[in-house]
Amino acid sequence: MDKEKIIENRKADHIKICLEKDVEFKKTNGFESYDFEHYALPDINMDEIDLRTRFLGKPFNYPFFITAITGGTVQAEKINKTLAKAAEAIGIGFGLGSQRAMLKDHSLKKTYDVRGVAPSTFIAGNIGAVQLPEYNMEQIDSLVTDLNLDALCIHLNAAQEAVQPEGDTSWEGVADKIKEMSKSTNFPVIAKETGCGISGKTAKLLKDLKVSAIDISGAGGTSWVKVEQYRSNSDMNIFNEWGIPTAQSLIETVQEVDIPVIASGGIRNGLEVAKALAMGASLAGFALPVLKHATKGFESVVAYFEKIADELRTAMFLVNASNLEELRKNTIIKVV
Ligand SMILES: Cc1cc2nc3c(=O)[nH]c(=O)nc-3n(C[C@H](O)[C@H](O)[C@H](O)COP(=O)(O)O)c2cc1C
Repeated sequence: MDKEKIIENRKADHIKICLEKDVEFKKTNGFESYDFEHYALPDINMDEIDLRTRFLGKPFNYPFFITAITGGTVQAEKINKTLAKAAEAIGIGFGLGSQRAMLKDHSLKKTYDVRGVAPSTFIAGNIGAVQLPEYNMEQIDSLVTDLNLDALCIHLNAAQEAVQPEGDTSWEGVADKIKEMSKSTNFPVIAKETGCGISGKTAKLLKDLKVSAIDISGAGGTSWVKVEQYRSNSDMNIFNEWGIPTAQSLIETVQEVDIPVIASGGIRNGLEVAKALAMGASLAGFALPVLKHATKGFESVVAYFEKIADELRTAMFLVNASNLEELRKNTIIKVV
């Protein structure tokens, strides 16, 4: 089978497995170990709480980001269009899945081309860090410029590659390539994990590599080691729980760097979003639940985010925060 066909089949398998199997970590994202200090006499109107924010220069109605999911197949095109349309209607960010397929076969560009349905949305492209050395700067630039995007996510998926039968495990020179890219592109580069989390040490390295933001994508949600295990029918499960829980990863990352941080990896409700923002995240990111809603259609995605926004507003009311600045600056989070 040629390389394009392998990538296409893999993308289809990933969607099918994520929709049909239990692909989530057994361990939690860690936010249950933190609690807000309840504020018994709020001095604000819950209905007037302002959830607007800005991320890398662009306005968002809500601090939410649909993190990378897919691209490269007919089904992926439909999912990307549904999600981009929903992101535009809600006013949140959207990330395309890995664009490797589009670099291998330019006719697949249309499966990622969502600017038409999301003219004002912050849209990020996506490519694997370990694949970067295969491409020249012109090709990397084209991922963003050909689709009129706002940023490029470089995904770090060492655990997935390590357990994938055909995975890329030669990572020498990848960090240098990220630095070369971050310095020469005129769009922001976001370093992004895929469910194993970023430690303080890695966050510092990424900042030194000049990335503009970090999506920590910690453990507690989708486990890519598990997904790959289903794909290869392997019984090697000792790495299924590998990764830094999202709450711990977030704390370590914001202590180490002052660039914007997206908290993702198993974020499933508005209370977890509130905790992540109070702990220093700029946005909260979601993948698996959004994919499931996308298969039901645009309205289902919009309703999902409306529910998350209501939950976030409720948490903010109970700590007397009338906007996200107040939530971030004046809120006490306790260890329970
Ligand atoms: C079906 C599916 C495909 C994904 N594909 C990509 C990808 O191409 N690039 C990437 O950076 N992350 C990819 N991810 C990872 C997510 O963006 C996210 O980091 C991870 O799933 C953890 O978030 P969650 O627990 O909310 O799913 C994918 C996730 C899912 C569910």
